[in-house]
Parts: sequence; structure tokens; C-alpha cells
Amino acid sequence: MRHKDAKLELLRAVPLFANLDDGELADVGRHADEVSVGEGKVLVTQDTSGNSFYVIIEGRADVMKDGQKLAELGDGDFLGEMALLEDLPRSATVVTTAPTRVLEMHRRDFSSVLDSAPHLARKMLATLAHRLRHADEQLVT
Ligand code: CMP
Repeated sequence: MRHKDAKLELLRAVPLFANLDDGELADVGRHADEVSVGEGKVLVTQDTSGNSFYVIIEGRADVMKDGQKLAELGDGDFLGEMALLEDLPRSATVVTTAPTRVLEMHRRDFSSVLDSAPHLARKMLATLAHRLRHADEQLVT
């Protein structure tokens, strides 16, 4: 029980989950596993198929595409959603640059959580819009 509460507290601190009610948060908790990885570990690999979505609880990671760094991710950021949403290979490689704790959610759980938590889907869309805007800016400069 204590373990469960600790997990819910962990989830509550993640901005992506900020607007979820207790039921939705518990649903996420049931479907997500906490995983610790060292520095320099590849979380997802460009052009390979992927089956997980990740939220960084604590740590850092670089997003690399064709050997170029696209972005740096840190506490509260998420990754791995694109391949799952589009059902296409990974768009980039994501490698940790510090010891990192992530929440990992399997494809089918990611899908069902998104279906049942519109707040989460909306937040994710806002982040995707931000990433797209940023990607466009990079093209112009
Ligand atoms: P996916 O394509 O599944 O795997 C690689 C991940 O890197 C991708 O999902 C996004 O989560 C992330 N990613 C790709 N491009 C960017 C970007 N421009 N900025 C931040 N994250 C990105």
C-alpha cells in the first residue's frame, strides 16, 4: 500500500500528469513501471520499431537524429510518443546523459491511458506543437 502511495506521489509531481484526477492518476500508475538507467544508455533508437513511451522522472537525455542533437530532455519531459502515435519507426535516438529514472509505459497501455485521460492527451498535443514550432525555427535559421 505504501509502495502504491509512493508511486502516486511520484506521478503527481510530473507536469504531464498535473491535471489528472485521482482515478486517472491511479490508472497511469497501474500501467507504468519505474526504471533506472545509467548515463549513456540508449532509450530508443532511430529507425527501429518501438513499443514504449517514457517520462523522465529525474535525469537528462539527448535527442539525436542522423548524428545531430535536436533537443535536450530533462525532468518531467516525455519521449517515445511519436512512433506509437503514428505506428512508424522511431524518429530519433534518445540517449541518457546522466543517471536517469524513467516511467515506462507499453504501447497498448499508452493508448488506453490516452483514451481515458483527455487532459493528458491535450498536454501532450501542446508539447508536440511546441516541438514542431521549435523544429520550424531551426529550419529557418
Ligand atoms: P519517437 O519517434 O517514438 O522516438 C524518438 C523520440 O524523440 C520521439 O518519439 C520524440 O519523443 C523525441 N523527439 C523527436 N524529435 C524531437 C524534437 N525535435 N524535440 C524533442 N523531442 C523530440
